[in-house]
Amino acid sequence: MSDSVRIIDIVNDSHDTKTFEFQWDERASPGQFVMVWVPGMEEIPMSLSKTTRIKSITVKKIGKDTQKLHELSLGDPIRIRGPYGKGFDLKKSKRMLIIGGGVGTASVIPAVKETGADTIIGARTDKDIIMDEIAARYVKNLWISTDDGSIGFHGNVVQLMKEKVQENNRYDMVLACGPEVMQYHLYKACVDLNIDCQLSLERHMKCGMGVCGCCVMDGMRVCRDGPVFTKEQISKMNEFGFSTRDECGRLVNLR
Ligand SMILES: Cc1cc2nc3c(=O)[nH]c(=O)nc-3n(C[C@H](O)[C@H](O)[C@H](O)COP(=O)(O)OP(=O)(O)OC[C@H]3O[C@@H](n4cnc5c(N)ncnc54)[C@H](O)[C@@H]3O)c2cc1C
Ligand code: FES
Repeated sequence: MSDSVRIIDIVNDSHDTKTFEFQWDERASPGQFVMVWVPGMEEIPMSLSKTTRIKSITVKKIGKDTQKLHELSLGDPIRIRGPYGKGFDLKKSKRMLIIGGGVGTASVIPAVKETGADTIIGARTDKDIIMDEIAARYVKNLWISTDDGSIGFHGNVVQLMKEKVQENNRYDMVLACGPEVMQYHLYKACVDLNIDCQLSLERHMKCGMGVCGCCVMDGMRVCRDGPVFTKEQISKMNEFGFSTRDECGRLVNLR
């Protein structure tokens, strides 16, 4: 069953990303997601970028369904199902480093707010960086990276993470969400540096609640067993970083 909620605020985060706020009383925790639908689109998964009573989704326009969401105005209704999945375990460490890549930043922002942990936000260019001003209100140490060096560290979040770990030597857990290739290299870096991690992964989703099998990855359902997976779970995955499934369930190489 989905709930109908009305949009009470819209924030333009960047040239292609918008945040839609709505009041929804369901309890949710950082890292969980919802299934979102409006007439004229397929239902799609979106992380909650706010998990309080006022909630939000942050949508990057990449295709027809996200385009449909970008056309919404204040007061428009949207249908929301969830919240679903396992979020981040924020109690596991007091020495966390939180990392958001691209629109994946939206998924880690509730964890940033709740913990105030040191944070890295990365993107291709300064125009693609989102939610850095929000993060800056909650954390003492916020670092930005861009692939083209237009703002902050010139390079990717994994390179910056390695630098910060070597400088500080105080982290024992990385929490992250971002493109799979980024998370793959982040996972490898965590293995090399002997740091624990929790990574939020993405797969094509239809039901969002463990029924259809559409999001299966190495025998696990990303919607129900994830989307946040532990380092130990990831260490047993063969598909992570190498292959995904399309909307018909066909295996597709990521490289
Ligand atoms: C758990 C989870 C959380 C997500 N959170 C966010 C978020 O906070 N913000 C955000 O902008 N995007 C998020 N996404 C991705 C978002 O669901 C896709 O960008 C969106 O579905 C694209 O739809 P489209 O029709 O606009 O693009 P299309 O052109 O249809 O698809 C573009 C690409 O988006 C992905 N995609 C399409 N449909 C789905 C689907 N049903 N399930 C999963 N991936 C799909 C595929 O990789 C596809 O190649 C999340 C995905 C998952 C699985
Ligand atoms: S989306 Fe249906 S089982 Fe995960």
